[in-house]
Amino acid sequence: MPDQQDVIEILEHDHREVERMFTELEALRGASSNEDKERRKDLTEQVTIELVRHSVAEEVLVYPKVENDVSEEEAEHAREEHAEAEETLQRLEKLDADDPSFDDELATLMEEIRHHIGDEEGQMFAHMRQVIDADELRTLGKRVEAFKKVAPTRPHPNVPNEALPRAAAGPAASLFDRMRDLATGRGTDD
Ligand SMILES: [Fe+2]
Ligand SMILES: [Fe+2]
Repeated sequence: MPDQQDVIEILEHDHREVERMFTELEALRGASSNEDKERRKDLTEQVTIELVRHSVAEEVLVYPKVENDVSEEEAEHAREEHAEAEETLQRLEKLDADDPSFDDELATLMEEIRHHIGDEEGQMFAHMRQVIDADELRTLGKRVEAFKKVAPTRPHPNVPNEALPRAAAGPAASLFDRMRDLATGRGTDD
């Protein structure tokens, strides 16, 4: 698999994408035109979809590996940060973009996620590179890519942030999420 990106390249690429959406969302803070409000709503949906898919892929495929081969403590810390951000995502999902608390919840989410990305890239991923060989990182990358195509798209904070419960809840939760997305046009431009 010479062209296969390794798991860290894929996850870091996701992080850059999320940061790009955050920057655009910050520029739209307090937006007053209908067009800007609409854009803010769409972007919040897209960032939620991306974050949920990314996080569940990490929980099912990456953190168990980290727990076994790198550091139990780092895996546990990351799961706690996911659980916290997932609750913020769920509060945000229930709010109208016009709601006065929308901007505050969004700011909380950005703070939590930026901090978490810093921890992953500064510690966990750096340690993974030291311990896991390049072939294995590419194999894991392939699995993460495939997994993200079927992962859930909505926050499910009632499901524990562990691989087994995630995988068990996955098929039903993902299908339900995707049916709802199709029914409402969420995550699309129309
Ligand atoms: Fe991540
Ligand atoms: Fe993460």
